Amino acid sequence: MLANRSALVGESLAIQDVLKTIDKISQTDSTVLITGESGVGKELVARAIHDKSARASKALVVVNCAAIPAELIEAELFGHMKGAFTGATQNRLGRFEAAHGGTIFLDEVGELPMHLQAKLLRVIQTRQFEAVGSNKTIEVDVRIISATNRDLESAVQKREFREDLYYRLNVIPVKIPSLRERKTDIPALIQHFITQFNGATGHTVEMPQGQILDALMAYDWPGNVRELENLIERLVILKGQGSVDLGDLPHRIFQKFAEGRPAGTGAMSEWEFPRMVLPTSGLDLKAIVEAFENHLVDQALARTGNNKNRASELLQMNRTTLVEKLRKRGMIQTVGSRNRMREDAAVAAGQMNDAVLLSSNANNNNNNGNNGNKNVNGNSGNTTNAINNNGANNGRNSGTGIDL
Ligand SMILES: Nc1ncnc2c1ncn2[C@@H]1O[C@H](COP(=O)(O)OP(=O)(O)OP(=O)(O)O)[C@@H](O)[C@H]1O
Ligand SMILES: [Mg+2]
Repeated sequence: MLANRSALVGESLAIQDVLKTIDKISQTDSTVLITGESGVGKELVARAIHDKSARASKALVVVNCAAIPAELIEAELFGHMKGAFTGATQNRLGRFEAAHGGTIFLDEVGELPMHLQAKLLRVIQTRQFEAVGSNKTIEVDVRIISATNRDLESAVQKREFREDLYYRLNVIPVKIPSLRERKTDIPALIQHFITQFNGATGHTVEMPQGQILDALMAYDWPGNVRELENLIERLVILKGQGSVDLGDLPHRIFQKFAEGRPAGTGAMSEWEFPRMVLPTSGLDLKAIVEAFENHLVDQALARTGNNKNRASELLQMNRTTLVEKLRKRGMIQTVGSRNRMREDAAVAAGQMNDAVLLSSNANNNNNNGNNGNKNVNGNSGNTTNAINNNGANNGRNSGTGIDL
């Protein structure tokens, strides 16, 4: 389902329910309280209600109660007279008056200071208030929608939020579930954001498929739709075109995907801790560990297009440690920041045979992960799962065909 920027995208029953509720309540002037975690789309829902209502041609005034200093909120909401307080050099219209005929959206209403909660209660009941420093009562015709990611019921129990105000705000509750509770919305949202950001940038990144989509579905999205939107924006900008690879995904998403895979399949076969059988004749532990390390280093380089900064991030090590390891293997001729450009040129020019070779192995691993037998073997015929120990790291490779 594609839609314009302000429309709500989603195919889950939960979002379809929210859409139906929006349709019904936009025909009324009832007060609405939208709840849900950060980034689920509370403001988008408030806008949708306003846009569908008879008030659509008038203003939708958004007030973020958490973003305005407590001492300024009253003047901000209700306006003030010249000289009402230090710095009030002229009369100022409040947000309630600015919303006359339209809708006011009180975002993060749970953060409203106690002393203003009584004043808001009166506005909800009578639509009347006075500007700061004035005795004149102002009356407005405003629809009130508020939102919070706080549990207002428990705030009421802790006496941090007025109970009477809570019931007045909560005439029509709209609860937006977290994205992890409606994962079936993820593909439609990805498609929506890919189209949106491709359109905005002129890029042509393709809709993720297969295990990339699986990985995006497996992740729990603690930042909800906003986190997904930000990721797709970043992927579109950084990739520019073509398909998204597993290596393009942030580590936290890739890891969650890998953890959820049964052992020996797909990404998990690359990620899982190897199970080695110690041969009766023993083994050269140092060489095996070194080969294993080289295998992962080379994959990180291949996956990041030889970008040592990103590769070192993937391996959770300092860049300098990575460079040192590559230098020891003869994959970098010079060290030191002075020569970094030369190093990069050397790497790009193909002194990284291991990385190139293992890059294709890494891809094969994805496809052949069910083959549980892996060899530490410099010249094994089965390159698919072999941890090759060739190139600069030779000599100590025992070639014992040890199962990993
Ligand atoms: N169902 C949806 N379809 C399309 N875009 C969405 C949807 N839900 C959220 N978004 C987008 O995700 C971003 C976050 O949404 P929004 O600002 O409405 O969330 P919020 O619940 O108000 O977050 P916060 O609590 O942090 O203020 C916005 O860019 C919004 O356009
Ligand atoms: Mg918001």
